[in-house]
Amino acid sequence: MKKILIIGIGAGDPKYLTVQAIEALNAADVFFVMDKGAAKDKLVALRKEICARFIKDHDYRIVEATSPERRRDEGLDYEAAVDELNRDKQRVFERLIEEELTDGQCGAFLVWGDPSLYDSTIRILDSILADGRLAFDFEVIPGISSVQALAAKHRVPLNFIGKPVSITTGRRLAEGGFPHDVDSAVVMLDAQNAYAQIAGEALDIYWGAYVGTPDEILMAGRLEDVKDEIVRVRGQAREANGWIMDTYLLRKRGVKD
Ligand SMILES: C[S@@+](CC[C@H](N)C(=O)[O-])C[C@H]1O[C@@H](n2cnc3c(N)ncnc32)[C@H](O)[C@@H]1O
Repeated sequence: MKKILIIGIGAGDPKYLTVQAIEALNAADVFFVMDKGAAKDKLVALRKEICARFIKDHDYRIVEATSPERRRDEGLDYEAAVDELNRDKQRVFERLIEEELTDGQCGAFLVWGDPSLYDSTIRILDSILADGRLAFDFEVIPGISSVQALAAKHRVPLNFIGKPVSITTGRRLAEGGFPHDVDSAVVMLDAQNAYAQIAGEALDIYWGAYVGTPDEILMAGRLEDVKDEIVRVRGQAREANGWIMDTYLLRKRGVKD
């Protein structure tokens, strides 16, 4: 039987790797590294650095594959585009598992942050198994997500005492405003500066870009005071690096904690 490990590698700093993740790295024969073009070179390089740094006295192979990209055509429904992307990814993953692993070997996908958060690797492997054409075991190793890394860097808890916290996307924040049923919300995948468009709420923002990497930028304050500066700094960083990944926590001001 083939075995697949989905290993959460943390969201930037190689020191975010857990002991369990390091043991898993040392158990894998083949690493599948998904390349998303020049803008993500640094992310691919970090995965290779992690293998070189943490794998001891053990032969392994790295197989690079081009990760399909989501279609962004005008008018195309977002969820339909994500479904299509996941089907395309499924075909690539199937080919890798079928052609690059022999029976009894162990393959690993190195997933940015934690595999349970805005990542489709688990979903895709489930679909491959459900289709029944391939058989393998798989295991998930958790990682430090960008949410945990952000909260640690700002030295802030995500939730108020005994209260819930919502994890959402920039798209949803832009469509629906700050969620009605929580006092704290973490926003990921925001390509449109949705925080700068929220009106009517007294909020604090804890923002971080490239958290845990040498390019890290952190900013925090009253949303109305700092939002324009975040938009400016974010735009500049995106321009300089060619891409950006940023996450932020929004908390209602004045909630008793
Ligand atoms: C596809 S999701 C993957 C999330 C990942 N599985 C995790 O656990 O953090 C990508 C989003 O995660 C956030 N992100 C990932 N790494 C980050 C980092 N180092 N700094 C800030 N945000 C990050 C950004 O919101 C980005 O748009």
